[in-house]
Amino acid sequence: MSSTPIGQCQPYDPRNANYPLNLWWVAGRSDELEDGKLVSRKLLGTDVLLYRKSDGSVAAMEDRCIHRGLPLSMGWLDGDKIVCRYHGFKYSHEGKLVEIPTQERCPKRGALRTFPIVERAPFLWIWMGPEGEADIEEVSDFPWLRDPNWVWAGGHLNIMANYMLLKENVLDLTHFPFVHQTTFGALDDYEAAATFVQEGSRVAFIKEFNNQPLSPIYNKDLEWGDRLVNRTDKGMSVSPAEHLFTATIVDPNAGPGERSEYLFRFQHLTTPETNTTHHYWWAASRNYGVHDDASAWIASIAQTAFAEDKEVLEAIQRRINESPAPLELPEVSAIADQGGLMARRQLQAYMERESR
Ligand code: FES
Ligand SMILES: [Fe+2]
Repeated sequence: MSSTPIGQCQPYDPRNANYPLNLWWVAGRSDELEDGKLVSRKLLGTDVLLYRKSDGSVAAMEDRCIHRGLPLSMGWLDGDKIVCRYHGFKYSHEGKLVEIPTQERCPKRGALRTFPIVERAPFLWIWMGPEGEADIEEVSDFPWLRDPNWVWAGGHLNIMANYMLLKENVLDLTHFPFVHQTTFGALDDYEAAATFVQEGSRVAFIKEFNNQPLSPIYNKDLEWGDRLVNRTDKGMSVSPAEHLFTATIVDPNAGPGERSEYLFRFQHLTTPETNTTHHYWWAASRNYGVHDDASAWIASIAQTAFAEDKEVLEAIQRRINESPAPLELPEVSAIADQGGLMARRQLQAYMERESR
């Protein structure tokens, strides 16, 4: 295996934020906001309060009362207004202070910061950059997660590691036979490198597994045993917030008029929490074997595998955090790291655009 220098790319400095604000990030899942539920979540270093209004849309604002700083998520809703639990200051869903119980008038400058938020079920997307720059057209949507011909499972992990460690992890699947020996990796041969491509601002890898038996995660409910089939994996870092993986499975023995193509997808949606921690929402879906127990089975295998990644990434981050000079930690890259290095440059381009 040959190695390439990392050039100007650097490991992550825990002292600096390495995420752009001008981007739609996942803030949570639609099904978290049941009637009257207040969700508090730190996103991009800011504590955000999320709740569903009576018209079904979602409100997002800073989770800190401007009186004496209690998290508003400890209070309660009065219609669409939020009441602080400490001295009863009341705010509209637009973040405006509308009532102080002990006096008639409210100071005019009493307002909380609010954030544009868009629901594309099953996910909620938030914009934390300057409000005027938010473009709803740029919000991602995954309609197949609402399609009855697909089955899916999803979850959320709070990972104590910089989100780019996960971005790089999902762009380099050569970790499968090591980290996921029993979950994902059993049959696939990752020794030959993937092909890496730049598609506009997106970074992708493509890897073909032709004439091979299917790994158990894909074979479940096809029950093809050792049958030799063709599979193309494509993983893409769509933006720093989103990675989409699709396995396209083709049965070369399908007769005329018989179904020959099957899709399995993973979404890896990463939102920084702090400089050294992140939220990881994943979704795993397929358009075959759609039955009542399928979702639970997909969830169980994906949960186990992603817990394996979490353990590895958190151990790496601990070493970065403990280092007195994190930028000087040596790092040698392999050919398989090309996608990860391209993702670092993708991020760099976002950061540069933002600083202009
Ligand atoms: S801290 Fe919220 S009302 Fe006083
Ligand atoms: Fe993994």
